[in-house]
Amino acid sequence: MRVVVEKLTKRFGGVVALDDVSMEVPSSSKVGIIGPNGSGKTTLFNVITGYYTPEKGKVLIGDGKKLTDITGWNPNEIARLGVVRTFQIPRLIPSLTVLENLLIFYDYNRCASIGYALRRKWLECEKKAVSKAMGILREFGLLEISNKKPSELSAGHLKLVETLRGLMADARVFLLDEPFAGIETWMARRLIEVIKMINSERKATFIVIEHRISELLEGVDYIYVLHNGRLLAEGKPGEVINDERVVKAYLGG
Ligand SMILES: Nc1ncnc2c1ncn2[C@@H]1O[C@H](COP(=O)(O)OP(=O)(O)OP(=O)(O)O)[C@@H](O)[C@H]1O
Ligand SMILES: [Mg+2]
Repeated sequence: MRVVVEKLTKRFGGVVALDDVSMEVPSSSKVGIIGPNGSGKTTLFNVITGYYTPEKGKVLIGDGKKLTDITGWNPNEIARLGVVRTFQIPRLIPSLTVLENLLIFYDYNRCASIGYALRRKWLECEKKAVSKAMGILREFGLLEISNKKPSELSAGHLKLVETLRGLMADARVFLLDEPFAGIETWMARRLIEVIKMINSERKATFIVIEHRISELLEGVDYIYVLHNGRLLAEGKPGEVINDERVVKAYLGG
């Protein structure tokens, strides 16, 4: 699924968190977003996913040439289109196990029809959800943590599980906010492999915010750079990190 952002502006009082930002994220691509602290990266995700309404501009999403204007839609409506996100600090539900945290992302609406109720098919639906969740945990080598609570998991596993919830929801667009923050290098590499796998096998689109640029470079095809709410540069990973303006922004220039 393709994501297009057109001239977005989002203010908080006197702070212009996003200033006329436009981006084009092609279907099935992996795009990175970098920029110094406070440059508007998380705000961009909050606007795309409907947590904030922009003062100006549009968010469009869709397949091929047919795009739907989702500006002003609420987060639930946007999630139902297949857009999922992860947070800078992972937000799994602490009282639920890993398996249960996956189960709550299953689309139970598909079982909510009168037909299902009349034929007492709820159990069948629950079974399908469990087998889907177990299938995902098996595929990504996480069966051994399926009954663990978030407090028992490493930072890397928290990030991984949060990402895999998107598969439960059959997500088509994954927005990952600093997936490598606070995790060990080998785990970051594993997460990159997971992103690549989901991208190539399920044709999902990824937009990844990250400060750990060396790791990000391995995982994405294209990068946008934000600085003070504005788009500072864009391009292929190798080009962007050598861009003088980008280097200057990171050095505080
Ligand atoms: N809910 C809010 N209320 C007021 N100001 C906000 C709010 N959210 C973000 N801001 C401000 O908007 C600007 C952009 O913040 P944002 O969180 O988008 O930056 P970021 O690029 O994600 O930074 P970081 O790399 O530190 O996560 C900052 O000046 C921030 O203080
Ligand atoms: Mg942020």
